[in-house]
Amino acid sequence: MVQRMRFENKVVFITGGAIGFGRAFAKAFTAEGAAVVIADIDVDAGEATAAALRADGARAIAVRCDVSDEVAVEAAVARTVEEFGGVDILINNAGLHLLKYNQPFGVLPRADLRALFDVNVIGIVNCTIACRPSMSARGGGAVLNISSIAGYMSTSPYGVSKLAVRGLTIALATELAPDRIRVNAIAPGLMGTENALDGLPEEMVRDFIENRQLVHRLGLMDDIVNTTLFLCGGQAGFITGETLKVAAGYPLSI
Ligand SMILES: NC(=O)c1ccc[n+]([C@@H]2O[C@H](COP(=O)([O-])OP(=O)(O)OC[C@H]3O[C@@H](n4cnc5c(N)ncnc54)[C@H](O)[C@@H]3O)[C@@H](O)[C@H]2O)c1
Repeated sequence: MVQRMRFENKVVFITGGAIGFGRAFAKAFTAEGAAVVIADIDVDAGEATAAALRADGARAIAVRCDVSDEVAVEAAVARTVEEFGGVDILINNAGLHLLKYNQPFGVLPRADLRALFDVNVIGIVNCTIACRPSMSARGGGAVLNISSIAGYMSTSPYGVSKLAVRGLTIALATELAPDRIRVNAIAPGLMGTENALDGLPEEMVRDFIENRQLVHRLGLMDDIVNTTLFLCGGQAGFITGETLKVAAGYPLSI
């Protein structure tokens, strides 16, 4: 018997898909039979990622898209529908997360604060609302938002933006339920990925892994990729409105 791939004939729209988590999601979804759209402000890096996937036989395109720009998002989704016929799964991954956004509210300039919320929060609203009609027309779909373990501590502008992502996950799951669209989120912990550890003091990282986590290693790309594919697939058909921590048991009490 021929084994069907998990996401055969599905179309996945991935924001911030050019590098990092987004690129790993794109690779994993195409390996499971999906077509992917890399929606990123860095169109050169997005095109490089899409070209590499196509070279492996996958269906992938890159589109220029700033998630904070409602009009640009509508255009990117229209291009997706034109190329692949619709959208089934949306990964709201694009996010600003430099150390700068962990400064106190009294220090971070308002313009940067607005940019942070425009991308990390309003960006999710823009993309979800833009993808809804196509998902609905195809009989339903799945949305996966990327929050962060920082969204449980909320001691910084970044943390508060990721707390808002958890709230949005509940609100959008409720709002889109009539269209059979499930909305969930993951909250990654300390990840050993490309940009994640940039600028973090080594002692802080060691203390986190040894004393605060219950699993004493850095998070791996596979940890979040596997969780994401699970939440977007049929095995999670009874799960919506949830944020799942992928953080080695830290922090268990909140
Ligand atoms: N890396 C971690 O340890 C970690 C932990 C928890 C949560 N997260 C979250 O995961 C997501 C991805 O993180 P990453 O480490 O892969 O990030 P990254 O910085 O490596 O990649 C982010 C991608 O998003 C794109 N992007 C930025 N602003 C955009 C915009 N306005 N519109 C469209 N694309 C835009 C960038 O060009 C880039 O390709 C973010 O939401 C981040 O907050 C990351």
